[in-house]
Amino acid sequence: MAQPAVLFVCLGNICRSPLAEAAFRVECQRLGLDLQVDSAGTGDWHVGKPPDPRAQAVARRNGVDISGYRARQVCDADYQRYTHIVALDKDNLADLHAIAPPAVSAELSLLLDHVAGRQGDSVADPYFGDDEGFDVTWADVTAGAQALAKHLRGA
Ligand code: 4NP
Repeated sequence: MAQPAVLFVCLGNICRSPLAEAAFRVECQRLGLDLQVDSAGTGDWHVGKPPDPRAQAVARRNGVDISGYRARQVCDADYQRYTHIVALDKDNLADLHAIAPPAVSAELSLLLDHVAGRQGDSVADPYFGDDEGFDVTWADVTAGAQALAKHLRGA
């Protein structure tokens, strides 16, 4: 298999997918995996913006600085450039299928599909909730990132 390249996708690319990217980078470093990793949104409202301050804060509390990340929208080239496109929720996954160009080489999945007992689950959108929601997001993306990295290490 070609060297895996992983793209995490949520709606705005300012809360869940940057946190999934950060948690996955931490896990890759821990395992000694040198992979191409990025995140993007299905929507374009926040393109060019840094992650939500609450997402930056939860990442910082967990030892990761994501202040330099900038939101971008998924594009056709992503379907060729990445071997794995990992959606944070079911709506994102449905949208990714709907906008996919004709020839797709990437494997599409839900992040929590990779976690035993959580297949089909979505990572809840914390954007309209309170700060505690971001701790739940961090726990979910960490579980997903750890399981995905373990899977790819064996690929
Ligand atoms: P994300 O969260 O998809 O996890 O980045 C959201 C960010 C912004 C909006 C919705 C969800 N919004 O409606 O602007």
